[in-house]
Amino acid sequence: MTKIFNDAFFNSLDSSILPVDEAEMLPPACYTDANFFEFEKEHIFAHEWLCVGRKEWVEKPGDYFTGMHMGEPFVVVHGRDGVIRAMSTVCQHRAMLVAEGHGNTRTFLCPYHHWAYALDGQLIGAPAMERACKFDKADIKLPNFKVELWLGFIFINLDENAAPLAPRLEKVAEVLKNYDLENADTSMDIEEQTFPWNWKVMFENNNDGYHANRLHAGPVHDIAPSDLCSFPDDLPADTAGYYRYNATVHADASFNPTLHALLPVFPKLTDEDRNRLLFANVPPSLSLIIRSDLVAFIILHANTHDTITAKRGWLAAPGAKQTPLFEEKLAINLTTSAEIAAQDIHVDELIPYGLRSRFAVRGRYSWQERAQLEFNSWLVPRYKAAWEEMKKAQDPA
Ligand code: FES
Ligand SMILES: [Fe+2]
Repeated sequence: MTKIFNDAFFNSLDSSILPVDEAEMLPPACYTDANFFEFEKEHIFAHEWLCVGRKEWVEKPGDYFTGMHMGEPFVVVHGRDGVIRAMSTVCQHRAMLVAEGHGNTRTFLCPYHHWAYALDGQLIGAPAMERACKFDKADIKLPNFKVELWLGFIFINLDENAAPLAPRLEKVAEVLKNYDLENADTSMDIEEQTFPWNWKVMFENNNDGYHANRLHAGPVHDIAPSDLCSFPDDLPADTAGYYRYNATVHADASFNPTLHALLPVFPKLTDEDRNRLLFANVPPSLSLIIRSDLVAFIILHANTHDTITAKRGWLAAPGAKQTPLFEEKLAINLTTSAEIAAQDIHVDELIPYGLRSRFAVRGRYSWQERAQLEFNSWLVPRYKAAWEEMKKAQDPA
């Protein structure tokens, strides 16, 4: 059993942020240990910006959707005043959840004893509480979280002192500019699934071009062979996200049986854009898989050390939904994507067995896996800073 909370363990993480030809993966315990997940929960998820959805999911006043990240239930709601807010759904009476699923509402009425909360979280109704001493509805509010919109994605942060996200995503936003994701067409049909593996297993799979023409070998995926991958060198050190490219064997390559874009191509793309795939990641919860006519997004909600909920959706060029046979063409793309995703899911499913094995090692990387180094470079400094904080808290002297 690896001992985790000691200097030797945290110093050993340094070998995961060496240049790609020297680095090794994180220790298996980072993926398998429940206490390590508690550490991530406290020191990463509770302070980082977490992507939770799209602005189109709460288009009109009163629209809301719920979710759960690291076991924290939350709701995102479009207020009557036009403000998009996020807050805990934990009833401040006896902890029932005041909202589930999604919909449109005027208030959040807790189903248990009918305490009612306004869309900003303020308690506005509490039946038969008039005899409770020193009880004032005005003092009670659902805890609100910070909210930031980035390219139409809604991010929340449980840390009220968190620095804004967008300034640390400028480089990634610049690379995504031609896709105009803020105005993209999308749909509320989100595929949501819970899986039995650690969040990093899935994040790394989304992040991995090395397996492209190996695990996914076959005519549909061979349009983007792994040896045509490339990685930028211009990301700032404090970047909150990163990206990589994979050139394609022809322009407007897309994952469907025709091997070409079927939907309208994002209109502002350059020839360069149209001859490559783009993969962008904003850890710990957003991955984008981008081709000329369709962007797939995956939002990951870590639940426990060995379970994760993934929400998958798509974005198309502004106005694409109005073009003839859009739904039919989209369905063709989604069928192929599901076949590819099934191969990834098979891997994600078996890796946890490997990681829990006594024979698991800290494996080495191919040059085609450089994006894993970007992820490690996001994680390791956070892990190490958190460990230093923990030590100080244990021994303030
Ligand atoms: S738990 Fe919500 S009203 Fe009682
Ligand atoms: Fe894959």
